[in-house]
Amino acid sequence: MIVCHCRVVTDRQVAAAVGNGVRSLAGLCRSTGAGQDCGACVFSLKRLVCEHGAALSSQPVLSEVDVAAS
Ligand code: FES
Repeated sequence: MIVCHCRVVTDRQVAAAVGNGVRSLAGLCRSTGAGQDCGACVFSLKRLVCEHGAALSSQPVLSEVDVAAS
């Protein structure tokens, strides 16, 4: 499924980036190119990093999500 339509980045690419150690939205944007144009995909990207990161680690990921949600 395409998550970022501007850069044509899929959820599988996001999962692969997280599997390769990406643990932040900024890192994901740098490594995949997603989220760097219109920004409409940013919340979906954050959610996917959280989901995939949580599946790989017991450590919390994307602490900025907590800040943004508060
Ligand atoms: S949809 Fe991702 S930057 Fe536009």
